[in-house]
Amino acid sequence: MDKKEQLYEGKAKKVYATDDPDLVIVSYKDDATAFNGQKKGTIAGKGAINNRMSNYLFQRLEEKGISTHFVKELSERETLVKHVQIVPLEVIVRNVAAGSFAKRLGVEEGRQLLCPTLEFSYKNDDLGDPFINDYYALALGLATREEIDQITKMAFAVNDFLKEFFQKAGVLLVDFKLEFGRFQGQIVLADEISPDTCRFWDINTHEKLDKDRFRRDMGGVEEAYQEIFSRIGL
Ligand code: TMP
Repeated sequence: MDKKEQLYEGKAKKVYATDDPDLVIVSYKDDATAFNGQKKGTIAGKGAINNRMSNYLFQRLEEKGISTHFVKELSERETLVKHVQIVPLEVIVRNVAAGSFAKRLGVEEGRQLLCPTLEFSYKNDDLGDPFINDYYALALGLATREEIDQITKMAFAVNDFLKEFFQKAGVLLVDFKLEFGRFQGQIVLADEISPDTCRFWDINTHEKLDKDRFRRDMGGVEEAYQEIFSRIGL
């Protein structure tokens, strides 16, 4: 499948057209940003890790009956995916209090939640991805009720799978962000599942093995990405 013109460049990935209008190629970069692009850096080797890890997890989720955009891994950094229309919602699932949840609600980081939570942000960089609820999403026409219900169901199913999967690797899945797309009338899981988009803590020590090390200037960023990658046996 030949790579044609670049359609889009995001903060962590580029998207290229192919000969088939239903398929695009995503190319994962080593670039890292945080706080809506205010903080910029490079995490050496991140693109390859995020590509391989996302593809592996998407294939495992497909086996569980969750539709994803994944088609075929093309190289270390490049993957052929379905050309979806992204639903402009960031879908965040949490198992343990951390990050903006802990800050906003005055809860200490690391508190186990009594049940998983789900929240939406409006995917809009100019506005800094503001927190919204399903009524806002409906009122603004960002998604239909059916789509929101389907996204909610899929997000919790992804959580059930990922939580158990990472637990077996000695990793606590604290929280994560998903994005969904529309493809041929269906909602499919899109974007990526990686240390950029999840909080992973060592199950015993709670050592951070994700992008929070970059966001919070903790050092050992590349090592954390390598560590999580090797823990899942990739
Ligand atoms: P938060 O606690 O900062 O709201 O982050 C929740 C989860 O979402 C966390 O796993 C990191 C992920 N995330 C992204 O993938 N992209 C973002 O832009 C932000 C703010 C968070």
